[in-house]
This record gives sequence, C-alpha cells and structure tokens, in this order.
Amino acid sequence: MERIYFDTLDSTNNYCKQNYEMFPSFCYVIANKQTSGRGRFNRIWLSDEKNSLTLSIFIKENLDNPVILSMLAAISVVKTLESFNIKSKIKWPNDILVNSKKICGILLEGITNGTTANYIIGIGLNVNNELFDEQIKQKATSMINVTNTLFSLSDVEKKLIETFEKYYKKTQNQSFELINLYKSYSCVINKNISFEYQSNLLNGKVLDILDDGSILIKTNDELLKINYGEITLKNYY
Ligand code: BTN
Repeated sequence: MERIYFDTLDSTNNYCKQNYEMFPSFCYVIANKQTSGRGRFNRIWLSDEKNSLTLSIFIKENLDNPVILSMLAAISVVKTLESFNIKSKIKWPNDILVNSKKICGILLEGITNGTTANYIIGIGLNVNNELFDEQIKQKATSMINVTNTLFSLSDVEKKLIETFEKYYKKTQNQSFELINLYKSYSCVINKNISFEYQSNLLNGKVLDILDDGSILIKTNDELLKINYGEITLKNYY
C-alpha cells in the first residue's frame, strides 16, 4: 500500500476527503501531528506528536456493506497489538480497549462522486503516550502504559498496515467469516450496558452483533437493532 506522509495536517481524514480524487485506491495518509483530529460524533481526537499513530487508509471501491471496513480495521488493530503481546477487546462498533481503557479509535467516513464510492478509515492508536489530558485520563491508555515498554512507531505502523492488507484480502474469499472473528474479540456481547439512543438513556443486554455490523439489544420493553453510528455505549468494559 502506498504511504503518503505529512509532518502536520489538520486531520488525516480531512486531507483524504479533500484530496480523494488524486489518490489511488488502497493507499494511506499518515501525519506526525494532527492539529484538529476528529473522532466519532464530532468529538475531538487528541494525539501526541511522535507518540501516537494517526493515519487514514483510503479505499476506492463500491462495497455492499462498507461497515465491514470498520470491522476489518478493528480486527487489524487487535491483531497488531497481539503481535506486540498486548491483549485487547473491541467495544462495538470499533473502539479498541485494553483493561477497559481505550487504546485506539477508528473513524470510518465515505464520499461518493456519483459513480465510485470512496472510503476513509481513520485510525488513531496510542503508542508511546504516557500522559493524557485530564478529561480522558480515566478512560485512555497506550501501548507503553500497558507494557512499560517503548515501541518503535514505524514498526507498529508497518505491522498495522500489513495486517490490514492481509485481512482485507481474506474478505475477498467468501468462506472467510469476518463477523465471527470480530465477535470473538467483542467485549459487549452478553453484557448489560447503558446507552444513548435518540437522546434517551437506556439499559439493555447485548444479544448479538449481526453480519451488517448492527447491534441487537434487548431492553425491558423491546428488541432494538441499531446501526453503526446511531448510539454510544456508556459504560466501559
Ligand atoms: C473515535 O474513537 O471517535 C475515532 C477516533 C479516530 C481518530 C483518527 S486519528 C487519524 C484519523 N484522523 C482524524 O481526524 N481522526 C482519525
């Protein structure tokens, strides 16, 4: 996969969105520093120059179910961490947690120009960040914090991209069951959770995550099938 490097960008996802017409499919944009990193639900994504990975993988392809890209990215991060002896879990849809704290966030975005769909998979992974801002300190962690080891950012980057490529190829094969692999790392299945849905705070039990990436939650009154992007889960696991 081609690598496009910048020292500073506002956000690697923004850069991909603004310049997608000049990119080949299957490349990634990486920045040493983001001045305006974004997370899901328009949250701010804070990263630390030289200590975190901030990159966006760009894919130009018409896909039936683009949500699989976010699952693929989540699996790639989990497998990458595993290769550095770090066990992690996926909090639906695609937060990566270690010991219930977030080590990586993923932001999938799409743009079409009429005929072709373009997807941007933004990945922010905390590698050697030791200190976090007051407001996220309780819920964030990094590779260095969980192992007391300093990592080479470029080794982690290389492994992450290789792993993504490997699993992306696997999805071309019908018999590969991405959803089952994804579910084997989920930390929400069969758990009671609280969540915000359509401005209401609800409680329920997660029954399953379906092939299309949606989540099935049983509350006291109903069975809800909720899509990617529509809810935030409140408690951490
Ligand atoms: C989230 O957890 O809400 C998603 C965070 C995604 C952060 C990454 S860092 C690289 C890319 N550029 C951005 O502005 N955001 C994503």
